[in-house]
Amino acid sequence: MKKTIVLGVTGGIAAFKAAQLTSNLIKKGYDVEVIMTKNATEFITPLTFESLTRHNVMIDTFEKVADRSVKHISIAKRADAFILVPATANVIAKIVHGLADDMLTTTFLAAKCKKVICPAMNTNMYENPITQQNLQLCRQYGYHVIEPDSGYLACGDTGQGKLADLHTIEQYIDSLFQDHALLKGKRVLVTAGPTQEALDPVRFISNHSSGKMGYSIAQAAYDMGAEVTLISGPVNLSSIDGVTMIHVTSAKEMMEAVKQEYATQDFIIKAAAVSDYRAETISQEKRKKQADTIQLTFVKNEDILAYLGQHKKPSQVLCGFAMETNHVVTFAKEKMKRKQCDILIANNLRQEGAGFQHDTNVVTMLYEDVEETLPLMKKYTLGQEILKKMVYLQEKKKG
Ligand code: CTP
Repeated sequence: MKKTIVLGVTGGIAAFKAAQLTSNLIKKGYDVEVIMTKNATEFITPLTFESLTRHNVMIDTFEKVADRSVKHISIAKRADAFILVPATANVIAKIVHGLADDMLTTTFLAAKCKKVICPAMNTNMYENPITQQNLQLCRQYGYHVIEPDSGYLACGDTGQGKLADLHTIEQYIDSLFQDHALLKGKRVLVTAGPTQEALDPVRFISNHSSGKMGYSIAQAAYDMGAEVTLISGPVNLSSIDGVTMIHVTSAKEMMEAVKQEYATQDFIIKAAAVSDYRAETISQEKRKKQADTIQLTFVKNEDILAYLGQHKKPSQVLCGFAMETNHVVTFAKEKMKRKQCDILIANNLRQEGAGFQHDTNVVTMLYEDVEETLPLMKKYTLGQEILKKMVYLQEKKKG
């Protein structure tokens, strides 16, 4: 049976992109019902959507015939997913506070289906702590937020606030229906972020890892129905609702947490950028500035992934990462063998769109004898791809 997508279009310049999205979703076989805010009709006409969807576009709750007054309830009941494209700062603020003063917000409040918010707005509005807090509330209510991209905005500014690309939005909608319960009953352990190795009470050595890759995998695993534990080094990301969070600082602490958790897991994904070395001694007091050059001795941290490779159970699937700057696949293959991973995700720090602080990644997946190079994609989408591959590998292991 056709899935019904309710597409809420609000009044931002990106509203015109909702027409292309509508057309793409219809080609994919979805039934699309469009609800617009009054402001949205200033940017694009309802007729465009009516022609594409062959349904009336709903704008005002009470404006038309008698049955319109309950239309929002019947549409809300029929919706398999409700997606806001673009979602303005104003509408985001309204939905998280339960305001229902037009057809769109009323139906949104009445709908119990999966909800996806695709913000698009000026960078300053997006970065405003009020908007950020509202988006955080969206996540807490279980709505999925597809982060806007960075780029040149209609207002002339450059920054984050550009509607996520339509391909990403479509892929996410597809995944709502395909991958929904793929990991039901599975336990997934993810490590994310950097570790910090103290030198004294004031200083540490660390790396540029943002934690975004690991957090995206944990979110994807949760959305696919898994019971997820995320062991995180120090990052600037919010905890994920529904995921068991364990916060650690050093590689040693991460190792201890992993040892506590790994035995009962189906999938273990080591996305963390673990420091290879720590200071041999941590000064109890602040080290004072003295000679022009100083020497510190570092000792090797235990390799957590290698430990897991040695101790994993036959049905567990282990995923490692390798970030390289040269000979990417050669180094990655060697790492995969040495650490006994079932799957290894190799990325090149020098490749555009890959690496630490980005929301996207470009990787080569190594598993069995396969070397699969994936196109540039959002870390969340990549997370889904990795997890799907791990399901496949576990099924093969179990025969
Ligand atoms: N890793 C780990 N414990 C460590 C170091 C690395 O678990 N002490 C894991 C990482 O989480 C990642 C993989 O090993 O999944 C590869 O990390 P990387 O730093 O690329 O590998 P190294 O073995 O440290 O190799 P090198 O630094 O020489 O490239």
